[in-house]
Amino acid sequence: MNAILETIFKRRAVKVFEPVQISEGIREQILNAARHAPSSFNMQPYRFYWIGTAKERMAVAELCLGQMPAETASALVVVVADIGSLAATSQGQLEWMRSKSEFSEVKIRDYERTAKIGRILFTPGPFGIFAAVKWGLFWLLNLCRVMGMPPMFRQDLFKWATKSTSLACQNLMIAAEALGINTCPMEGFDGRRLSKYLGLSVRYHEIVMVIAMGKKSQTYVDPPQWRRPLQATVSIL
Ligand SMILES: Cc1cc2nc3c(=O)[nH]c(=O)nc-3n(C[C@H](O)[C@H](O)[C@H](O)COP(=O)(O)O)c2cc1C
Repeated sequence: MNAILETIFKRRAVKVFEPVQISEGIREQILNAARHAPSSFNMQPYRFYWIGTAKERMAVAELCLGQMPAETASALVVVVADIGSLAATSQGQLEWMRSKSEFSEVKIRDYERTAKIGRILFTPGPFGIFAAVKWGLFWLLNLCRVMGMPPMFRQDLFKWATKSTSLACQNLMIAAEALGINTCPMEGFDGRRLSKYLGLSVRYHEIVMVIAMGKKSQTYVDPPQWRRPLQATVSIL
């Protein structure tokens, strides 16, 4: 079978790990694979907090409700949807484009303009007032033309960012599996306390999941893997 498919099929949510050293090289490859996932408008609206030291791991595991995968992991990755990074990201891309000879002035100006429009569209404004006005305008426009709706309210923005963040999570887990590191994604955590522990801002950050990583314990046996039948999850038109 194709090696990538094999890795996808081999990955399981492992619930008990045994201690293993995850080298800096492996860590870098895993995180690099994560950030190569596709993201909406290439905005990469996320941040990974790699928790590797024993003291920090213990504290974070406790906030993951003391779940076994968290307690036994060699590293924990707290994956955060970050809607406060958008302006810096488009600025970063703009600077990168300016440093490359393959982008013409026209292309750079085009990107600059799109980024400006994006910033307007993606800004909810104080108390969501701007979002409400935009929502009304877009709703009216949508009555007479085919169009997509940008995320407007803060919750829409988090939902938007969570999609791209989740794709990065899957890349991270598949890359880890390919490198011989098992994982367990977890949404069982105390979000409020974990956010506080990491010094996150309620306004801009939302924890999407925590990924426990390590080597599957020799004593742990994967339960049989059940999936809904293909026809229950797919419509072919
Ligand atoms: C978003 C998400 C949240 C999850 N949260 C937890 C969790 O808190 N604790 C846990 O033990 N497993 C958690 N899991 C793992 C699932 O239980 C597991 O993926 C599922 O049962 C299928 O098993 P498999 O991944 O081995 O195929 C989570 C998985 C996902 C995708």
